[in-house]
Amino acid sequence: MSSKFVILSFVVLAVISSGCTGPGEEGSIPSREAVKMTVIAGWAPDGVISEGEYARKISPPGGIYEVFWKNDGETLYMAIKGETGGWVSIGFEPSVWMKDADIIMGYVDERGASARDAYSTGNYGPHPPDSDLGGTDDHLEFGGSEKDGFTVIEFRRKMDTGDEFDRAFRSGETVNIIWGISDSDDPERRHQKAGKARLTFM
Ligand code: HEM
Repeated sequence: MSSKFVILSFVVLAVISSGCTGPGEEGSIPSREAVKMTVIAGWAPDGVISEGEYARKISPPGGIYEVFWKNDGETLYMAIKGETGGWVSIGFEPSVWMKDADIIMGYVDERGASARDAYSTGNYGPHPPDSDLGGTDDHLEFGGSEKDGFTVIEFRRKMDTGDEFDRAFRSGETVNIIWGISDSDDPERRHQKAGKARLTFM
């Protein structure tokens, strides 16, 4: 596993009213350390995509990858779900191929969920952490689960983080995305499946 990855483990300090279960659920990956997880307006980064937790969703052809999201003018809440035990990812607004995409990659292993706020500097990577490029890690919070052959990574970030290696999003805007999923947890190992789509913020 790359040391550049940030590892976050968590416990559920509150249970949202929809009755979703947390990371201790049977079959999910248990957390290693206890740090707090916020529940905001029905959203919790517990790796469980609950009824009503997100407002919008896209399911690109192939049926192996989905993105769920909701946002206001300030904050984006998002879940990426792939049919894999390896990493899942989303990249925003590439200029060509993978280049210049504002990427989030994540996976779940026995230590919990890991995520990288990354940026692709070339057509086919590399995509180092923003912090290696002089930017900042702008996940305000994230978590995930690996269960029944699917990996889910949930995160929230500011619509406009102020980091030059993150795209600044506006409410109502439609953006191009790229996605990839790998059967490996190693972020340096390439995807088995990848594709393109578009999504529109609320
Ligand atoms: C170690 C990580 C990665 C490597 C080595 C890698 C490498 C490559 C290579 C060589 C291609 C050329 C086409 C092909 O052979 O499939 C490609 C295409 C592609 N990659 Fe990656 N990639 C990585 C991570 C990612 C991530 C994280 C994403 C999404 C966020 C992504 C999205 C794509 C997409 C959408 C294409 C197809 C582009 C097109 O057909 O227009 N890749 N990648």
